[in-house]
Amino acid sequence: MRTQVVIIGGGPSGLLLGQLLHGIGVEAVVLERRTKDYVLSRIRAGVLERGTVGLLAQAGVDARLKKHGLPHDGTLIANGNDSFRVDFAEHTGTSVIVYGQTEVTRDLYDAREGAGARTIFEVENVVIEGADTDSPSVSFGQGGLGHSIACDFVVGCDGFHGVSRRSIPEDQRREFEKVYPFGWLGILSETPPVDDELIYANSERGFALCSMRNANLSRYYVQCSMADHVDNWSDEQFWSELKRRLPVEVTDRLITGPSIEKSIAPLRSFVTEPMRWGRLFLCGDAAHIVPPTGAKGLNTAASDVHYLFEGLSQWYGEGDSRGLDRYSERALDRVWKAERFSWWFSSLMHRFPDQTDFDLRMQRSELDFLRTNKAAQKAFAENYVGLPY
Ligand code: FAD
Ligand code: DHB
Repeated sequence: MRTQVVIIGGGPSGLLLGQLLHGIGVEAVVLERRTKDYVLSRIRAGVLERGTVGLLAQAGVDARLKKHGLPHDGTLIANGNDSFRVDFAEHTGTSVIVYGQTEVTRDLYDAREGAGARTIFEVENVVIEGADTDSPSVSFGQGGLGHSIACDFVVGCDGFHGVSRRSIPEDQRREFEKVYPFGWLGILSETPPVDDELIYANSERGFALCSMRNANLSRYYVQCSMADHVDNWSDEQFWSELKRRLPVEVTDRLITGPSIEKSIAPLRSFVTEPMRWGRLFLCGDAAHIVPPTGAKGLNTAASDVHYLFEGLSQWYGEGDSRGLDRYSERALDRVWKAERFSWWFSSLMHRFPDQTDFDLRMQRSELDFLRTNKAAQKAFAENYVGLPY
């Protein structure tokens, strides 16, 4: 079998790149380890930057997003019982859109199927061959048979645990990592959100976040120990812990109900450099991870797709390799800025096991500076809505 681009991983970055390439007549085959239902059952990100929304529009998959996405012009930041608002519209003239990653992925799969583009599910033992030559290929098993696809380029969109990053020889890459000593316990509940906007809360008992998917679907998180397990948390325990971390006037409005999903996610900052080896390119979580505070994971995956798509369109359109040659540098430049914001916002909002009284005063002082200083709010808003591509 032969195609132009093999994309490993049918998550949001692989699907978005596949759809953009389809739009310029470049054929891409997507290889996905799981079933489509499994991919669509994963509850992950919820906030889209304008740039991500623009890319989805460019890929022709924004009809449902336009109808159901919720524009948010600001966010609330709470510290104990006090809270303040950062106005994105005032500081940047733009906003973010609340629309779940599950919906983005569903829209992309629908478009892919509508276009007759090929996705191969439940692949195993994926091996990238000849990435450092002009004729790479990808071999894999599926349904008990072995297959191989020859191609021009391989794109690794297979997430943090995928094979693509590990296919780059160790002496050709450098990794940077910070693991945080806690996780996020998240629930989804069919209840109206407690507020029109998101609430990020720093409290004595740890971080909490009130988010949403739509008018009757709420997403809430509390910081928890990584040694913890979802089975240790009944819905009642979750709601009671969440209430203890929010300002009283918010708690008074909180409507609780049964959870329909509950999971614990670890927090990690990670970057691998470079994001290219020969004809293999890495996109999204395959190359970098951010802690979720600030919702940069999916959005940074999308910005990688933007730069790589530009490079591939120049290569296929004009035979010009300059965009591909600059891909890693351009993508990493933006990735590191998203890493910085996510690390800073995580450090500001969580309780760390080894935090001293001095560290706590620093958090309090930094939150107060953000509350009172318009320049600090502008910097926050610019990062939150997404730095320009
Ligand atoms: P992924 O979504 O990980 O997709 C990779 C795909 O590759 C998967 O479908 C996987 O099955 C497939 N794959 C893996 N290995 C192979 C293989 N060997 N062969 C073939 N296919 C393979 N971001 C936010 O902005 N906000 C959030 O609230 C948020 N919450 C998150 C919660 C969790 C539990 C996790 C894990 C992540 C969360 N993120 C969040 C991050 C965000 O979801 C990711 O940044 C985003 O999914 C990245 O997309 P991706 O396509 O690069 O990778
Ligand atoms: C959500 C997750 C985040 O990490 C964040 O900063 C905002 C929203 C969410 O899942 O809705």
